[in-house]
Amino acid sequence: MSLEYNQLSTKHLLGIQSITSDDIQLIFRTADNFKKVINSPIKKVPSLRDITIANLFFENSTRTRISFELAEKRLSADTVNFSAASSSVKKGESLLDTVNNILSMKVDMVVMRHPAPGAHQFLAQHIDANIINAGDGTHEHPTQALLDAFSMREQLGDLTNKKIVIIGDILHSRVALSNIFCLQKLGAQVAVCGPPTLLPKHIEKLGVTKFYDVQKALEWCDVANILRIQLERQDVKYIPSLREYSLYYGVNKERLERLDKEIIIMHPGPINRGVEITSDVADSKHSIILQQVENGVAIRMAVLYLLAEKR
Ligand code: CP
Repeated sequence: MSLEYNQLSTKHLLGIQSITSDDIQLIFRTADNFKKVINSPIKKVPSLRDITIANLFFENSTRTRISFELAEKRLSADTVNFSAASSSVKKGESLLDTVNNILSMKVDMVVMRHPAPGAHQFLAQHIDANIINAGDGTHEHPTQALLDAFSMREQLGDLTNKKIVIIGDILHSRVALSNIFCLQKLGAQVAVCGPPTLLPKHIEKLGVTKFYDVQKALEWCDVANILRIQLERQDVKYIPSLREYSLYYGVNKERLERLDKEIIIMHPGPINRGVEITSDVADSKHSIILQQVENGVAIRMAVLYLLAEKR
């Protein structure tokens, strides 16, 4: 990569699929610097003091929402928060009308989580502000994938040829798809593991390996990124019961003790303890789940800062 590469190739972050590996490396280098800032006594820089950012959440969130808000405050941006549950969306207002009304109050950037895949792409065609996807339905969650890969890079260095398995409900997961795109752009080998009903048909066409046996998947990998079962997105039953899922696919201490190596355990949250992961694994020395959350702020600062430069 050229040392001259100091601008993103895009003015929006709609997904990982639409950015380059140079963009990802630039975001990581910028996040390295912001991580130093947030670990220093004065955790704030004036970089975005002329920028106003609207955080529009049409779906629930704990980590992503707080993390973006903190990142914005650390960059000295002005912020407004919007939650669909307490808004005029409930009175039938369209997405475009809602966003245009907010933008007419001189908002520069929009961070949005929305249940509809492609909602951000649609907005990008109609409005001028920078748009950052904080999760669109079952499609993409780009900042989660960036913080996941950044956290793996901290542990393993260069991710070229590192083996990462994503275990769980891949079918309904935006984290899985963004992770696959991101890790492959960084040269990693990616696999997915879960019951056949929760792995998308033809997922091998994305260049990932498929495991149905969780023990074999754990033996193969350097990192296991474990996902929850998204019952709220399942209109029919994909597994007989959570108890059975846990028995066959849950990552627990016994499964890890059978390995002849140590692996890194990750989870994007929210965790359903005792279902996809047991507490003794989630809280073990192999788990970097809280480092992922910490890195989320630095990654989101980097994304906001670099997109603001594209204005
Ligand atoms: N990982 C993640 O997106 O968590 P939230 O739904 O709490 O934002």
